[in-house]
Amino acid sequence: MDQAVNRQVLLDSRPDGVPQTAHFRIAHTPAPRPAPGQVLVRNQWLSVEPAMRGWVNAAANYSDPVAVGAVMRSFAVGTIAESDDPDWPVGTPVTGSFGWQDYAAVEPSAIQRRITETDLPLSLALGVLGINGVTAHFGLLEIGQPKPGETVVVSTAAGSVGSCVGQIAKLKGCDVIGIAGGEAKRRMCLERFGYDVALDYKAPDFAQQLAHACQGRVDVYFDNTSGPISDAVMGQLAVGARVVICGTAAIANWSPLPQGPRVERHLLVKRARMQGFVIFDHPQHGAIARADLAQWIHGGQLKYVEDVLEGIEQAPDAIAGLYRGENMGKRLIRLY
Ligand SMILES: NC(=O)c1ccc[n+]([C@@H]2O[C@H](COP(=O)([O-])OP(=O)(O)OC[C@H]3O[C@@H](n4cnc5c(N)ncnc54)[C@H](OP(=O)(O)O)[C@@H]3O)[C@@H](O)[C@H]2O)c1
Repeated sequence: MDQAVNRQVLLDSRPDGVPQTAHFRIAHTPAPRPAPGQVLVRNQWLSVEPAMRGWVNAAANYSDPVAVGAVMRSFAVGTIAESDDPDWPVGTPVTGSFGWQDYAAVEPSAIQRRITETDLPLSLALGVLGINGVTAHFGLLEIGQPKPGETVVVSTAAGSVGSCVGQIAKLKGCDVIGIAGGEAKRRMCLERFGYDVALDYKAPDFAQQLAHACQGRVDVYFDNTSGPISDAVMGQLAVGARVVICGTAAIANWSPLPQGPRVERHLLVKRARMQGFVIFDHPQHGAIARADLAQWIHGGQLKYVEDVLEGIEQAPDAIAGLYRGENMGKRLIRLY
């Protein structure tokens, strides 16, 4: 192929907290040529994740930070554009950690998977059939272990992970209470995702509304935020509750961590369990979750909403926008 231009979003400086536009720059370089044994992937969709904050942060995390000057780490969906490998022919749709760029020359081992759900939009491989859906499925079902009739509370309830958690909990016969920011997201929880109750955590009387809705009977709390939302939910746990720690969006700085209310008393009195997890520790769960998730999507039982930014120029501000709560659904960047 003619050597195309590869637009790359590079980490330009290391942020302390949430990465902002100024922490990135866009470079234009020739598209890479695959070395022997490599394939060339042309990205079509780039993912934007809250976790990217951790990937660029110097504070200790579960992965090495992206180097300053390197292409921003990202999941992406693309198509094999050049290949001598009969297992990965040109035109194969794939997903993997291909970075915020147009083209990536990678070893086939870097490909996370061939996308087989080609009757569904390819972008779903980054959202409801990707890390977000698999995280929701694993965290809720394996760690939260909800039973029919139990009450499940979900924070960031309108988001990509949260909306999946809420809908899976409904499919498992639970009463589901969602917590999201603002009236538009609250309504989306009720009207699109089928929550029984949805609350706006920005309302001045949020804690009272939550207490009224929960009545101390929260069996599973799927926590994506920590912070004041969790402080309010912890007081509503039922005996034997399970608290699933999936994300900490409300913690502005990780070093030093802020002081906050102590949770131990709630855990002790309610004989409750609190457990964090990182989905990358459970690669075997991807296929298990996707089988369920794809079936529910085909059956119309699992709805998704995508928040699409057009063009790679949108990338530098895209993570900050997540932390401003701008996204309605799974945030993605479409390249073409
Ligand atoms: N443990 C794992 O392996 C794993 C894997 C994937 C994702 N996650 C976590 O799952 C969570 C959701 O991820 P997602 O990709 O689905 O993102 P998302 O929910 O689609 O988007 C992030 C949302 O976070 C909310 N938020 C931001 N700052 C907040 C604050 N200070 N207080 C309360 N809410 C705040 C905003 O919603 P509002 O407008 O409602 O505030 C925003 O829309 C994240 O915390 C992410 O890190 C964990």
